[in-house]
Amino acid sequence: MAAIASDVRDLALAEAGARRIAWSDHDMPVLRGIRERFAVERPLANVRIAACLHVTSETANLVRTLREGGAEVALCASNPLSTQDDVAAALVVEHGVTVCAIRGEDDDTYYRHINTVVDIRPQIAMDDGADVIGVLHATRRELLDAVIAGTEETTTGVIRLRAMEADGVLGFPVIAVNEAQTKHLFDNRYGTGQSTVDGIIRATNVLLAGRTFVVAGYGWCGRGLAERARGLGANVVVLEVDPLRALQAAMDGFRVSTMAEAAPIGDIFCTATGDKDVIRGEHFERMKDGAIVANTGHFNVEIDLQALRERATSSSEPRPFVEQFVLGNGRTINLLADGRLVNLSAAEGHPASVMDMSFANQALSVEYAVRNADTLEKRVYVVPPAIDEEIARLKLAAMGIEIDVLTDEQRRYLSSWTEGT
Ligand code: ADE
Repeated sequence: MAAIASDVRDLALAEAGARRIAWSDHDMPVLRGIRERFAVERPLANVRIAACLHVTSETANLVRTLREGGAEVALCASNPLSTQDDVAAALVVEHGVTVCAIRGEDDDTYYRHINTVVDIRPQIAMDDGADVIGVLHATRRELLDAVIAGTEETTTGVIRLRAMEADGVLGFPVIAVNEAQTKHLFDNRYGTGQSTVDGIIRATNVLLAGRTFVVAGYGWCGRGLAERARGLGANVVVLEVDPLRALQAAMDGFRVSTMAEAAPIGDIFCTATGDKDVIRGEHFERMKDGAIVANTGHFNVEIDLQALRERATSSSEPRPFVEQFVLGNGRTINLLADGRLVNLSAAEGHPASVMDMSFANQALSVEYAVRNADTLEKRVYVVPPAIDEEIARLKLAAMGIEIDVLTDEQRRYLSSWTEGT
């Protein structure tokens, strides 16, 4: 088969990209350790991987790890706005990876790139949002049989894949990397929390202290965001449809409300629900002049952009990543990053030290899938707990943190039912 051609912005950016990749690598000790082992053991020798991930310096270090393990990798973007063009160039020039990703690519190019990457005839489909797995099942079904397994990075993707499993249409096993504790408890919470605030601040330079910050969704991402916004002095209002989560938000000390009530009092709104139409026309109409509206969920469906555009008499771009709409009522609304995930569009996504654990889970899940190819069924699997625990231990060790171990006596006590007071 002819080699697949890369499609990146400019190969001359490679040197800058290489510096950025090295900077991230410093904060990814767990992944680095796996890379060193992979270089010796080559557990992925000749395995073809089609990866659809945010093309960032952290992803580059994952791809380097897979390459050291012996894999052939073709990479495309999992979002049109998150690609770091210099990193894409460095992966092609310095690491021999096929990359099809250009920051700002239109939807047609985005899907063309996914289709090019699956031309590799993947044995592993690595996804962040289930787009590559979706394309394989929709229009490239002739490739399904060759796939040993998929891996899925994010909550939104796992929801889609579980729906496919429930409908009996999943064509190969998938490991839900997001479900690992060393993934969602850290990446979704601390990673999204910090990087979302980072994206909003880089785009607007707004002071959060004293502002009313409305967080829609109290999953791990919403929680992280609410905590960080509060830490910067914002008055945080949480919106949540699940009664248990809403109760947690209330007892975590947040004001819990509805979008209808929050719309006229919020200064900054950010969606983190994974669902569509969370902020709608009737909400825009009630918002204050100058309200800032952003999304940090995977897809750009959480803010009803059509409703916003329909209500606008004009729009302008006062700063990069800010589109300011003037509504018929005379008030302005500032939409960030076109409603796409603001942390990866206006900032650089989660910091390397948290992606270290997420991508260690990816690398070890791929190794696990390849080693267990014969026994896996067409189901959605969680990451084996032994992998999760190992990553936590390695991260603690890298952070220089020691923890106690149970004595034999304590271990016995924990597994018995006869001993009381
Ligand atoms: N998802 C969130 N942050 C990311 C990052 N820095 N790199 C890749 N994927 C991400």
